[in-house]
Amino acid sequence: MSNKTYYVTTPLYYPSGNLTIGHTYCTVAADVIARYKRIQGYDVKFLTGTDEHGQKIEEKAKEKGVTPKEYVDKIVADSKELWKSLDISYDIFYRTTDKKHGKIVQEIFTQLYNQGDIYKSEYEGYYCTPCESFWTETQLNDGNCPDCGRPVKLAKEEAYFFKISKYQDRLLKLLEENPEFLQPKSRVNEMINNFLKPGLEDLCVSRTTVDWGVKVPFDEKHTIYVWFDAVCNYIAALGYKTDIDSDYKKYWPADVHLVGKEIVRFHTIIWPAILMALGEEVPKKVFGHGWILFDNDKMSKSKGNVVYPEPIIELYGVDTLKYFLLREFSFGQDGSFTREKFLNRINSDLANDLGNLVSRTVAMIEKYNGGIMPEPKESGEFDEDLKKTGIAASAKVEEYMNKFDFSNALEETWKLIRRTNKYIDETTPWILAKEDDKKDRLDTVLYNLSESLRITSILIRPFMEETSNAIWRQIGIDYGQGTSWEDLAQWGKLITGQKVRKEDPMFPRLDVKKEIERFNKVHEEFVNKRMGKKANEEEKKEGDKEVEENLITIDDFDKIELLVAEVIKVEKHPNADKLLVIQLEVGDEKRQVVSGIAKYYEPEDLVGKKVILVANLKPIKLRGIESHGMILAADKGKKLTLASVLEDISSGAKVQ
Ligand code: MSP
Repeated sequence: MSNKTYYVTTPLYYPSGNLTIGHTYCTVAADVIARYKRIQGYDVKFLTGTDEHGQKIEEKAKEKGVTPKEYVDKIVADSKELWKSLDISYDIFYRTTDKKHGKIVQEIFTQLYNQGDIYKSEYEGYYCTPCESFWTETQLNDGNCPDCGRPVKLAKEEAYFFKISKYQDRLLKLLEENPEFLQPKSRVNEMINNFLKPGLEDLCVSRTTVDWGVKVPFDEKHTIYVWFDAVCNYIAALGYKTDIDSDYKKYWPADVHLVGKEIVRFHTIIWPAILMALGEEVPKKVFGHGWILFDNDKMSKSKGNVVYPEPIIELYGVDTLKYFLLREFSFGQDGSFTREKFLNRINSDLANDLGNLVSRTVAMIEKYNGGIMPEPKESGEFDEDLKKTGIAASAKVEEYMNKFDFSNALEETWKLIRRTNKYIDETTPWILAKEDDKKDRLDTVLYNLSESLRITSILIRPFMEETSNAIWRQIGIDYGQGTSWEDLAQWGKLITGQKVRKEDPMFPRLDVKKEIERFNKVHEEFVNKRMGKKANEEEKKEGDKEVEENLITIDDFDKIELLVAEVIKVEKHPNADKLLVIQLEVGDEKRQVVSGIAKYYEPEDLVGKKVILVANLKPIKLRGIESHGMILAADKGKKLTLASVLEDISSGAKVQ
């Protein structure tokens, strides 16, 4: 086995429902990297699995009237089945409900407690159950979770805290000075500006109101916070803190953790801080990929347009899905899935470009050379350009693959495919075939076409193994016959004299309009079968309910007292850079409000301005200073502006 190691991980999925094509995105990408590195001779460890503890699972199981373990076992079995049908080549499928995992997490927790990095106190703040995240008042977005936008719950309980604040400087240094650590680059600023610069607050790492999870070993009424438990998987899966830790020694630090953009913060702040506290190395890289959106929404249960991978695999095969996901979307950014885009991509890239090239090449060898791969004899015009494109392709593909830019890596391969199709038109083999003295030239042309297919088959292999195998079968080669990554560097590695075998078209052209109907029908059948027709309808209704729950009646609106207020005095908050302490005059009354707008306004800019105050909010303390109400602002992207009135009106006026 090679001594070059490569450790790639996906997040551990919550087994809380069927996995959508969005969930498969990261695993497909990780699989491609793992296969790519293996082809390049690395000794690869590829980890995936399920994150099975926490409040979300506890609540779901309760709803269904089963134990959390019964609940997760069924879903984990389905996801394993899915990974099997997607031919995901993981080395470890890790479950956080494995006994061994709990023991390792407890040891880690105890070590940090013993060394003073974890201490007991009381938590008061907000909790988003779907994201399993703690939030402070100022971090909320209109009172909702800033990550998923759903309502949060107030939590007040005795808890253990991790002294993450102690690692603030080291984390900042890691992100600022090591550009390789977090990619794409845009996410670095997000972490620094949104979390590190405002100052890290110690992290609550236990819950007394959640039972389903790993217990704090020395205080069993506490359950270890599910994210603390979950991130430890990356080292626990390698045997960290066990007698069999040779894999840990061999593969850690991970070469890359692939994660969705909303969980970058857990992987680039919380997880490295835990590792720093343990005295272990941090991962070499975290890549935060974008989301696959359905109607511009990460999930659209209410619209019923979430897409599940199984029907796609059934209708169009695994390779089309893998190809589409990694070719259509730029890995670091969000992208919208539509059936049209998917079907058009299959038609243009797979049916027209690749599929056609293979069938035309093999058909011509059958027709003009009795189905035997000819030897190249007479070179001619266009050969050099084709060879050059073929030989240059691998270096370009490598460059993109090393940046996790799958879309461009595939585009480079398709440049070769398109160049080769053009070569057919340029060399016109059907005309060469008509003249006896052109047989040598014809042989060369047919050989060159097949040689280009050999190179293509290796370049696409990490993405589309079935298709790569189909090319090998059709041009009559087998594993080891010019099929290694090194064999890409040389033109002419294709053996000759073997029989070629034409097969049915790999990607038949699809009638997009008709196909969408078929797609929808099969998809609907799948959903009904998997979830039960009733459950499917209920799930949609639940989504509708979520949307409805977002609507309020005029009575609800009446409960909010909105008043015009004049800013009298503004000071910076003594303990928080993000906050301003604002004195307001509201009619005859004076009010103090603490607002997170320090980034957007200097105190002196605000004095004398009329703002809109939510006057009947319960007072709260923000970093030790009482805030009695909230002032309204509009924000989009990086811009924020306070809401005001169009014409002057005296303070105390009601906004309605
Ligand atoms: N359990 C945590 C991860 C713990 S890792 C120690 C979790 N699970 S999850 O099931 O909610 O999400 C798993 C991954 O799927 C995340 O990286 C998330 O971004 C990804 N995706 C889920 N839906 C997605 C899309 N629609 N598009 C792309 N990826 C998305 O978070």
